Amino acid sequence: TSNKMWGGRFAAGPDAIMEAINASIGFDKRMAAQDIAGSRAHAAMLAATGILTDSDAEAIREGLLTILSEIEEGKFEFSAALEDIHMNVEARLKDLIGEPAGRLHTGRSRNDQVATDFKLWVRDQLDAADEGLQALIRALLSQAEAGADWVMPGFTHLQTAQPVTWGHHMMAYVEMFGRDLSRFRDARKRMNECPLGAAALAGTSFPIDRDMTAEALGFDRPAANSLDAVSDRDFALEFMGAASICAMHLSRFAEELVIWSSAQFRFVALSDRFSTGSSIMPQKKNPDAAELIRAKVGRIFGANTALMIVMKGLPLAYSKDMQEDKEQVFDAADNLMLALAAMTGMVGDMTAERENLAAAAGSGFSTATDLADWLVRVPNLPFRDAHHVTGTLVAMAEKQGCDLPDLTLEQMQSVHAEITQDIFDVLGVDNSVNSRMSYGGTAPAQVRAQVERWKEILK
Ligand code: ARG
Repeated sequence: TSNKMWGGRFAAGPDAIMEAINASIGFDKRMAAQDIAGSRAHAAMLAATGILTDSDAEAIREGLLTILSEIEEGKFEFSAALEDIHMNVEARLKDLIGEPAGRLHTGRSRNDQVATDFKLWVRDQLDAADEGLQALIRALLSQAEAGADWVMPGFTHLQTAQPVTWGHHMMAYVEMFGRDLSRFRDARKRMNECPLGAAALAGTSFPIDRDMTAEALGFDRPAANSLDAVSDRDFALEFMGAASICAMHLSRFAEELVIWSSAQFRFVALSDRFSTGSSIMPQKKNPDAAELIRAKVGRIFGANTALMIVMKGLPLAYSKDMQEDKEQVFDAADNLMLALAAMTGMVGDMTAERENLAAAAGSGFSTATDLADWLVRVPNLPFRDAHHVTGTLVAMAEKQGCDLPDLTLEQMQSVHAEITQDIFDVLGVDNSVNSRMSYGGTAPAQVRAQVERWKEILK
């Protein structure tokens, strides 16, 4: 038999394959709460504008509340023959209240309905990402505050570059996740316009009040163009774009944790709670959570790419292609939230191996730049000449298998006569980091100031 909702012109029902490719209820049932909220707002507006009687609107309202509790209690029977969440809810409403159920769809279409439901769902995810990021930033701030003056090597090309502080490294991620936070907030502001009332594509001849439904659903205003309102999936793409960048940041940090927790580095100890063992090698403690977080970016970026490609080239207004939007976004959102929570747990639990960090900070000629800077300041060499002299000293130390502070004053003077004993003061790592007081630099005082600034921001 043909579909009750649209089968008037149909003599036969769909082929089983047609039903299989067409039905979205298997996944869009996740938007049940949003669908019911949208229908309640629509029915209340239809009554307020005199399009529906108050008693019909009341019956609809009660029916919808019953359906919501049936769904929440797991008692609702979803049907693939009814295609999607919208028609599943409406069909059940008909069972419950009879004729008034058929009046709910006045001045509305599934096209504005699905756009509204999906926006409400994505908006919740923007809020969840916001909270998840705030929790992660707080965990990073605790690490940064505790280790504002713990020295460690800073790297470029993953080769020792200059000493930095643990706090400074943590705060670098705070900046990245802070920008992610602002991207989600920015997307939320832009997306918060209500599609409901755009109807199928052209608006409606019923005297609806779009401001009323927009306000009831927490939108800032109704979307201004009905064609755009039902065709727009930018909001989902912006969510996934911001999610992709955030996942990329998580992935970089996860990679560092994988490296740092290795026996070769021993910069951090991850907690048992966020590690796993090996079924064959008894000594193993693997950073699986970090590895999985590192991998999530592939999946989230893939979802973003998939929806971009679904949307490109679609003529206005609604096309069924757009039903392919939801699974990508659901998957990206689920995995982003999981990755954020796992990273927050790992960061909260991990222990910096302070002594190993300090030992590594001083090796690899990490204070060579400090030496060159001293040559600029004291004998007043041009920086390029100072760089050359320092390079010669590094080569000398390397040949002798020692570090820069292990060279004698005589050896140094054989390279440049004006070097004095004072030079040894700048070769220590603590001195090195303390001296980097430029704004945004690694000096502990700078790091502490940034921690305070972020605490203020998160208040
Ligand atoms: N299940 C559909 C979707 O997710 C709802 C909109 C259907 N609209 C239509 N004209 N067939 O996009």
